[in-house]
Amino acid sequence: MYFKSNEKVIGKENFNTAVGSTRRDFLVGTVAAGTAAGATYFGYSKLTGDPVKVGFIGTGDEGSVLLTQHPPEFMDIVAIADLREANRKRAFDGDGNEHRIGLVKKLGPGCKQRIKVYNDHRELLKDPEIEAVVIAVPLSQHAPITIDALKAGKHVLCEKLMAHNITECKEMIRVAKEYNKLLAVGHQRHYSVLYDNANHIVQQGLLGEIKFIRAQWHRNNSFPGRDSWRNKINPVEAAELEGRLQEYGYEDMEHLVNWRLFNSTGGGLMAELGSHQLDACSIFLGKVHPLAVHGYGGRNFYGVKGVGSLDKQKDDREIDDHVYVTFEFPGPNYAEDKNDIVIVTYSSINTNRFEPYGESVFGSRGTMYINMEQEALLFKEASPTTGGGGPEQRLYVLSGNTGGPVLDASESLAPSASASIANAALEKVSRGYTEEMEHFCYCIRNNINASPKEGGLKCNGTVAMADAIMALTANLAMKHKKRIEFKPEWFDPENPAVPEKDPQIVG
Ligand SMILES: NC(=O)c1ccc[n+]([C@@H]2O[C@H](COP(=O)([O-])OP(=O)(O)OC[C@H]3O[C@@H](n4cnc5c(N)ncnc54)[C@H](O)[C@@H]3O)[C@@H](O)[C@H]2O)c1
Repeated sequence: MYFKSNEKVIGKENFNTAVGSTRRDFLVGTVAAGTAAGATYFGYSKLTGDPVKVGFIGTGDEGSVLLTQHPPEFMDIVAIADLREANRKRAFDGDGNEHRIGLVKKLGPGCKQRIKVYNDHRELLKDPEIEAVVIAVPLSQHAPITIDALKAGKHVLCEKLMAHNITECKEMIRVAKEYNKLLAVGHQRHYSVLYDNANHIVQQGLLGEIKFIRAQWHRNNSFPGRDSWRNKINPVEAAELEGRLQEYGYEDMEHLVNWRLFNSTGGGLMAELGSHQLDACSIFLGKVHPLAVHGYGGRNFYGVKGVGSLDKQKDDREIDDHVYVTFEFPGPNYAEDKNDIVIVTYSSINTNRFEPYGESVFGSRGTMYINMEQEALLFKEASPTTGGGGPEQRLYVLSGNTGGPVLDASESLAPSASASIANAALEKVSRGYTEEMEHFCYCIRNNINASPKEGGLKCNGTVAMADAIMALTANLAMKHKKRIEFKPEWFDPENPAVPEKDPQIVG
């Protein structure tokens, strides 16, 4: 969505006003606690006892972000493992990007002597000192490495998407249960205070009736050298790994380095980008599962000869570069009335980033826009009784006829006191990576293996499997050009039914 700069300021202040008015005690409590920013929100506290001894498997782009964000008071990194020497080095030295500063800058030069370095996950898993692992490897290896780790007696925090297919997700959950280990998955929005506040606004009913959410992740990789999913292969590195790759599940160096582009190693735009945002949308809708999905996906840029490739040949990637999907979700009254449907549309494209990424929630009383996991804007709909709305309208929160909070228009241009309180608190929060790792360690140290509502991991195997089902079933809908209805048994970890083997889809 495009906003003028003053509209952006107003939208942000409106959001903070609404959060400050409806969550005041919570925010004040968070500031006063002086502990980790997310602890109050997500129900944990500082660790008593030693930090959990953790090994990192996969120190590429995302592994390096997680190393940079890791919380040393909760997590003691004792080892790292990566197949690629350049990425083992990057774990310590960083790569010049502020989000991947490396362990030396974060922990001091002594960490190079202290932290053990392994060339692959198998060696690391034999290390008896390690209690838990963080796994950030290509998607196709999430399940095999997670299962190896659980069987080696380690708790696991695995990056998203949970696995390459739902059969694997169910096996991961089963093995975690059998070995009595925790299994967390890295959909970090579950630990973002921004999303928690946004969800609070939705749950308070401030947006009114929600019938439509639009989410998108648009990138422009059409300029030469801009495709971050296509990296150059280093011939020296390729020679070092020659003959070893198949044993780790990669056909060749191309599939290890550019794994996102191929069906055997990745899951396309829905797995990499869409899963995060469908996760957020389903949270806004009360953590419900979708009813149906259909869509279109194609290699409309890279698949067109002479258009999407530099050498005028067709690009060899297998995944779609443009996807557009529509999900039908049940509204709050769906059980009584089947007309109560909420539509969520999602698009991810490669040829324009005018509107980069975010989620827009369109309600009958207000609109909330979350931009790039960094800021949330709130606007009021115009109404005959409460006056003006729109992007230049400041608002405040009133008690409505039924006692619940409602949005009202304000004449005042000065930010309210509650907005300042909310601003002060919100500035301290992160995208959720740190909180996700803190809570993982907290649950390990305190032997908490409960449901998310009872203080357990917020994105456990069952929660993450639902995100994988949404993303991967959308892929099936696009591939088979079908509207697919989701079956409740797919979401049940104990039930062997899975979308990828459903005869109505693939038969
Ligand atoms: N949560 C998020 O927002 C987010 C963002 C980006 C990526 N991710 C996820 O993180 C994961 C990794 O993505 P990435 O961008 O870092 O990829 P990457 O290719 O940059 O890094 C993957 C690393 O894993 C290593 N590896 C592969 N198999 C291994 C094995 N058996 N033992 C040890 N190391 C092994 C590779 O050598 C590579 O260095 C993916 O699942 C991706 O979806 C999550």
